[in-house]
Amino acid sequence: NLNSIDERKKAAGEKAAEFIMDGMTIGLGSGSTVYWLLKKLGELVEQGLTIKGIPTSLQTEDWAKEFNIPLTDFSQVDCLDIAIDGADEIDNNFNLIKGGGGALLREKLVGANAKKLIIIADESKMVTTLGGFPLPIEVVPFGWEVTAKRIALLGATLHLRKREEKVFVTNNGNYILDCQFQTIPNPEELHNQLKLLLGVVETGLFIGMTNTIIIGGEGEVKVLNK
Ligand code: A5P
Repeated sequence: NLNSIDERKKAAGEKAAEFIMDGMTIGLGSGSTVYWLLKKLGELVEQGLTIKGIPTSLQTEDWAKEFNIPLTDFSQVDCLDIAIDGADEIDNNFNLIKGGGGALLREKLVGANAKKLIIIADESKMVTTLGGFPLPIEVVPFGWEVTAKRIALLGATLHLRKREEKVFVTNNGNYILDCQFQTIPNPEELHNQLKLLLGVVETGLFIGMTNTIIIGGEGEVKVLNK
């Protein structure tokens, strides 16, 4: 039985490694579930698997190096064979909220430039409607205060993300606004409205991008296909 959240994350991460074939280029997502995937991939590389990964965060890059996973970048690869990433919320239509770790922009670039996006998570991430988890929005630091006011007018209560009293800065040099919309019944419409606001770089709404979800639950790991 998979009793703890961590065991469920580990089971989902390791299951995802079964989708990796020799010679593939792989988008490497971010977060504690992806950690288990990377650890498993490291073992497979050790046994002779030939792969190359593009990391979605500096943390993932560090872990990949620790596990001896060869890395590449978009100067060498036009389209990844597969991307595997975590999520903060997943709805029944396979739409996501991401960015809890602050890596949403690179995660979206990697996921959008992969033939297939697999999401790995424990079952606590599954929801009927998105929005319980505050939506992370990456914004340009200059004038973030006015950008925040425009976002608030769309119905959000929001906070500038901080870590240990300091403003959190993304790997791209931007800020994150954590935006509580209560509920997000139409994620595509909200994403489009947000993207029109000057100063918004990207939102943590991942719509229509996910092909497969691997969920670690109490007794088992489930693979759900769209
Ligand atoms: C990073 O920005 C997020 O999108 C992560 O993918 C998300 O927070 C999942 O993290 P865990 O696997 O640690 O729950």
